[in-house]
Amino acid sequence: MIFNLIAICPEETKDVLVDELKSLGATEIDPQFKAVHFKVDEEGFYDLHLKLRTASRLLKIIKIFSAKDENMLYDQARRIPWDEVFDVDSTFVIEGVPGERGPGVMSANTISKRIREALQSSFLHKKKKKPSVNLEEPDVSLSAFVRGGKCILSIDTSGKSLHKRGYRSDKHPAPIKETLASAILKLLKYDGSTALYDPMCGSGTIAIEACSIALNKAALIHRKRGDFGFEKLPFFNKDLWRKVQDKAREAKDEKLTAPIFASDIQSKYVDAARDNALRARVERYITFMSGDFFDLDPPAPEGLLIANLPYGERLKNVSQEETLDFYKRIGDKLKKDYAGWRAAFLVAEESPWKFFGLKPSRKINLLNGSIPVKLVVFDLYKGTKKIKSK
Ligand SMILES: C[S@@+](CC[C@H](N)C(=O)[O-])C[C@H]1O[C@@H](n2cnc3c(N)ncnc32)[C@H](O)[C@@H]1O
Repeated sequence: MIFNLIAICPEETKDVLVDELKSLGATEIDPQFKAVHFKVDEEGFYDLHLKLRTASRLLKIIKIFSAKDENMLYDQARRIPWDEVFDVDSTFVIEGVPGERGPGVMSANTISKRIREALQSSFLHKKKKKPSVNLEEPDVSLSAFVRGGKCILSIDTSGKSLHKRGYRSDKHPAPIKETLASAILKLLKYDGSTALYDPMCGSGTIAIEACSIALNKAALIHRKRGDFGFEKLPFFNKDLWRKVQDKAREAKDEKLTAPIFASDIQSKYVDAARDNALRARVERYITFMSGDFFDLDPPAPEGLLIANLPYGERLKNVSQEETLDFYKRIGDKLKKDYAGWRAAFLVAEESPWKFFGLKPSRKINLLNGSIPVKLVVFDLYKGTKKIKSK
């Protein structure tokens, strides 16, 4: 059985997702805007759901058809054997996604309404009853993307968004998404062979995702039963799913090659990060510390330092002078103590990162949720303490 799938991702990290898909055996990989189309066999289908680190959702294409107007959309959708797609007793929701704007373009509402009517009519005809809509917690989520007179109709097989790995509590006010943390690690080519340190770890997301990469652990292995969308669909192959999970568990390494450290100035966040790591079953691999970055010594002679600096709401009550000083002190600390390290900071787009007084080797634009951010990377070579600012 070959599956025709779409992985959804932020546009900025699409190349990372393409690399992941290639390494996991996907074929016919075709990057689109904020999405990658590809094919995979049945075992690969389950493997991808378990292991993809940077996709936010996975959709299985049901049908691609012409939809030049709403009647054509209805007629084509009505021809789909819906009772083979999902069970009549399941609840569902349809997200209409217009892929363009302008006069004559169908609205999101029209797209979802017409497909709902077609689907319910088809069920009524075949099963004498129809499934009901549930906007809050549907068993089945459908997506209909309409652009250029064509509709791509698909079913969400990921269920909960894939950043929800199943290990994180909500004890930190500004955590980054697990998918973004992983994408950053992949962009920095982190593979577990160098020491890693997050000195402003908050809920520990970066250190936990790094540990998962370093141990070759499947990213979503700790999701609860029923969290994946495919588990509620008729084609679900329970035995194969179990086999794929067992294989992934066997492939996990038992030891790290290089250590992973995480600290935060607030001990309550360090406790929350430790709890999260415990739920992700990586707590014993990460050394957690409480303390101010400016007071702590580097935990290793060299390695990769990654920090997601406080911004936005967090700095609302801080004067501009204090903010500039914070950035300047980080730069001074790096120059003084971190020669031999590579340091990467996720900062707000408009942040005064130039006050680090260091020349970045890379700047990468990203989105943290809806906030435009930048990953600025510095190579702090040994013996080059005086690094010119830009
Ligand atoms: C944006 S949050 C990090 C969120 C984290 N990436 C996560 O996923 O939860 C920034 C963190 O920096 C910490 N912090 C701020 N100033 C610090 C300092 N001087 N030393 C250490 N940690 C600091 C804050 O307590 C906060 O938890």
